[in-house]
Amino acid sequence: MSDNVVMTAMNYDSDRPPASNPVKIMDLSLRDGHQCLFATRGRTEDMIPVAEMLDEIGFWALETWGGATFDTMHRFLNEDPWERLRTLKRYAKKTPFCMLLRAQNLVGYRNYADDVATAFVDRAAENGMDIFRTFDALNDYRNFETVVRQIKKSGKHFQGVVSYTLTEPRLGGDIYTLDYYVSKAKELVGMGADSVCIKDMAGMSAPYDIYALVKALKAVITVPIHLHSHFTSGMAPMTQLKAIEAGIDIVDTCMTPYAYRSSHPAVEPLVMTLLGTNRDTGFDIRKLAEINEVLEKQVMPKYKHLLDDSKVSIIDINVLLHQTPGGMLSNLVNQLREMDALDRIDEVYKELPRVRKDLGQIPLVTPTSQIVGVQTVNNVLNDTPDERYKMITGQVKDLCYGLYGKTAIPIDPEVQKKALKGYPRGETPITCRPAEVLEPELEKAKAEIGDLAADMDDLLIYVQFPVTGKKFLEWKYGRAEVPASVKPITMESVKKQDALIKKALAGELVERSKADVPAKSERIRTFNVFLDNEFFSVEVDPTGDVPVLAAPRVVSAPAPAPVAAPVVAAAPKAAAVAAPAATPAAEAHGTRMLAPMPGMIISFQKKDGDAVTKGEPVVVLEAMKMENALVAPCDGTVKGIKFKSGDTVAKGAVLCVIE
Ligand code: CO
Repeated sequence: MSDNVVMTAMNYDSDRPPASNPVKIMDLSLRDGHQCLFATRGRTEDMIPVAEMLDEIGFWALETWGGATFDTMHRFLNEDPWERLRTLKRYAKKTPFCMLLRAQNLVGYRNYADDVATAFVDRAAENGMDIFRTFDALNDYRNFETVVRQIKKSGKHFQGVVSYTLTEPRLGGDIYTLDYYVSKAKELVGMGADSVCIKDMAGMSAPYDIYALVKALKAVITVPIHLHSHFTSGMAPMTQLKAIEAGIDIVDTCMTPYAYRSSHPAVEPLVMTLLGTNRDTGFDIRKLAEINEVLEKQVMPKYKHLLDDSKVSIIDINVLLHQTPGGMLSNLVNQLREMDALDRIDEVYKELPRVRKDLGQIPLVTPTSQIVGVQTVNNVLNDTPDERYKMITGQVKDLCYGLYGKTAIPIDPEVQKKALKGYPRGETPITCRPAEVLEPELEKAKAEIGDLAADMDDLLIYVQFPVTGKKFLEWKYGRAEVPASVKPITMESVKKQDALIKKALAGELVERSKADVPAKSERIRTFNVFLDNEFFSVEVDPTGDVPVLAAPRVVSAPAPAPVAAPVVAAAPKAAAVAAPAATPAAEAHGTRMLAPMPGMIISFQKKDGDAVTKGEPVVVLEAMKMENALVAPCDGTVKGIKFKSGDTVAKGAVLCVIE
């Protein structure tokens, strides 16, 4: 066998002799697993049945929180994220919990002020978090300073992350080289990291690259090394094995129902692969099988409708072709689809590396993947041959100002200048640690939300998610009705639905007796019927004076004639999407400001009757988690505002009129 993996015993039972250097494993099913496969929609009630069982396996840690869970839970599940932490802790008492922390971005999408960052880590630790896997999208570790201070103060484990990214198909190029990663890891150890994680969020780490990297890291650092990668491109299980051969300490896996596709390698094959070697996990594979059984029978039926089954293949080779995270690509596709522009995906693929380079060749991970992705789509849809970056998102402006930190290479000076024209904080970018220019936020937020936030945990939801967080707190305290769309699905309703589908597939839904269909007589005659562009052959069999039409049979459908394009594209998905309002009388004299994409209104910068000059921001629209300031197309007076903060609008909705 290769390198440091050697065979010692071949004993299937759980009392097999312990390995000299067992591979430690963190289970991601309850966080990254369902985040990847089920859009983070996993509910706490569906984690409880397996929490105690997972606790018995011997995992190094269970990842239970962070990443998108905080956002999704309060926004789509009407669940308090803090409550999940406390609840799971009651069921899994032995195994440490790990969370993914976006450094100064916490669990949101921008850098928050130091007071927020400190309070958040303090509260997470108090609520039961043990290991803080901390990453920064730009690998700018100045963004670690505040949270790490508090992690240490709370006496918790600080896992420092190097975000793994590439600009070439394999490790190398000008920026993201072996030396880059080794020096970043050393920097983390210097900051007091209790362990170092190589975080490959896109599944682009190749087995031999990681083998070389782990070997190089092992030569210079002594803290445990952890590998996080995604299956997406299909390489991850091979990469994991090579990392183990190179001496990695900890790897990440999921229980089988939560594994593969854009998620992670499964635990069971790895346990079997290492069985009887000096790196044997020691896990009892039969106990793992019991957990799978519960997940398959009691949990998965409620989530299978969320699985993307549009493709047979479980491997997405786009990652290998574009060095772009799979989740980011599916976001781009969704965004284009909602804008009725899916045919422009190839232009997006071409524009994406250009935008990434313009913006400093940054790693693509939340939130930078969204920042680069949304700006790319904006460019493809709005730019003209003589003007690039016509519509720049608020987040790109922040990035250009330095609010996310230092980019890998300098941002293109022309793009930066354009982005910062009229930027409220100033037109000269900063070079200091971003949070140094941020005013404390907690007191201000407290004044805004008032007694709706009962404690610090509530306040931290509101600070990071002012619009949806406020909505959630209103549901939580019974001040607004909880919409049906955020309520859980029950097994009973799943069973009913499945029964209905079965019936439909068997053709039993139409309960019409076959005896009702009369036999055809010899008087039957065939007519050609043309309806719009569809052609039907209809048989008519007269009975007495009244002709009866038999069921029409579609013979062929000639090419459709051009149909007038509908005014509103994008069929609204959510029930509460406001239809584009059009009251021609009121708008006859003005210029209508239309929503260029479906999204949620963050705020109106102007109110009815305000004067506005061309180019001034009027409304901030959130689409794909990015804020877009929509500017006045002409001078005039703002009239006819029909929406308020938190409203969802369809593409083409009239936001206001400028007269
Ligand atoms: Co991940």
